[in-house]
Amino acid sequence: MTDTTTPSGDHGSTKVEVLLVEGLPEFRPGDDLLGAITSAAPWLRDGDVLVVTSKVLSKVEGRLVPSPSDHDGREQLRRRLVREESDAVVARFRNTLITRNKLGIIQAASGVDASNVAGDEIALLPEDPDGSAAALRAGIARLLGVDVAVVVTDTMGRTWRLGQTDVAIGSAGLPVLHGYAGRVDAQGNQLVVTSIAIADEVAAAGDLVKGKLGGHPVAVVRGMSFVDDGSTARDLLRPLEEDLFRLGTDLAIAQGRREAVLMRRSVRFYDQERPVDPDAVRRAVTAALTAPAPHHTRPVRFVWVRDRSLRAKLLDAMREAWQSDLAGDGMSAERIERRVRRGRLLYEAPEIVLPFLVREGAHDYPDARRAEAERTMFTVAGGAAVQGLLVALAAEELGSCWVSSTIFCPDVVRGVLDLPAEWEPLGGVAVGHPSDGDPSPRPPRELAEGLVEL
Ligand SMILES: Cc1cc2nc3c(=O)[nH]c(=O)nc-3n(C[C@H](O)[C@H](O)[C@H](O)COP(=O)(O)O)c2cc1C
Repeated sequence: MTDTTTPSGDHGSTKVEVLLVEGLPEFRPGDDLLGAITSAAPWLRDGDVLVVTSKVLSKVEGRLVPSPSDHDGREQLRRRLVREESDAVVARFRNTLITRNKLGIIQAASGVDASNVAGDEIALLPEDPDGSAAALRAGIARLLGVDVAVVVTDTMGRTWRLGQTDVAIGSAGLPVLHGYAGRVDAQGNQLVVTSIAIADEVAAAGDLVKGKLGGHPVAVVRGMSFVDDGSTARDLLRPLEEDLFRLGTDLAIAQGRREAVLMRRSVRFYDQERPVDPDAVRRAVTAALTAPAPHHTRPVRFVWVRDRSLRAKLLDAMREAWQSDLAGDGMSAERIERRVRRGRLLYEAPEIVLPFLVREGAHDYPDARRAEAERTMFTVAGGAAVQGLLVALAAEELGSCWVSSTIFCPDVVRGVLDLPAEWEPLGGVAVGHPSDGDPSPRPPRELAEGLVEL
């Protein structure tokens, strides 16, 4: 980048002021931000930098999404918007996703923000903050006849530093970086890589007067000396490929492997708004099919019942079979109804996958002892594959619950699904995103609970 400095101080200025633009109204979609700023700050001068909180652009540009006001509903919507606004998940810490959003900005929660908006709305970042900055700049030139630069800000955390600062997510009219490479310091040392993010420094300076409690979304930084080089805030984005934390990523992968089994838990309530990615299910099934099995056999099949009417037909038929079994036990109609109501899980799960065991390749033994052992061997292999599926689903961030019901009515299941007589149901697996959104692994159990070391 070209050197734009003059001799007085590195940046060519000795005094910089930060001024608050006072008297701005609360903004709503469609409001005239340019008009409001030019009326509130007719005192703008050539060379001023207007620092505008992105939230007001989100508001006037209609980037507000209506939200339920209850905490859970709002949280569910917020999580969905974070995913929709992101094009890559970069990291996750507890419940916070760090994403690269559609602007290429890597930050927490894709910039989706529930602060400084009404309780029934959530704000997305402006669609084109550089464009918004350029439009404001041009508008101010037109209305006030002054040449200002514009910086659009958002608040972000910094890796390895506590606390957040404002940074530039959009800009127009000022060089965003000041490069020192090749320059010599007072001690005669050549500076090699130093490159100062001027636009971010301006954003942070503006925040010193704007604050975060709302009502003051615009400030002016006055007294800087610069020459526009055509750069914009987009030029401040570090490409994902230049991730400086590669080692951290390796460690994270190792931890992920260790935690894979601990990510599985029985999930009985699902986020009905969030569809299951079919490819994630397919990946999980291909992983589960690698489960160990006796005699090099492949005894497990998974049936993913995607057709809703077929699913309803199957579950209704299973329920009827269950009711008739319970009636045969002499249970009262009212108790039967209560028991059957507890079986809603497979009806309500976003997807269901049914595991089956096919004892192809099992050995025949003339005596009952070995025949029974052979049966057990295949049955446990089926269990291994189902557990593999649940763990693989958990690794895909999908919740699951393995329920037994199909095991109790194999003929009904085979009949409705038109499956061969030798396919033995091993239960059903409900699949979906957990409604509590909790992605954390559970603690492992105490060793003494199940390990005997001899
Ligand atoms: C073969 C098998 C059948 C199961 N059947 C049911 C069931 O019918 N309904 C249900 O809610 N959970 C069922 N479960 C899940 C257990 O209730 C669950 O694994 C247990 O409560 C422990 O919770 P966790 O999976 O979160 O560790 C079944 C689990 C297995 C292994």
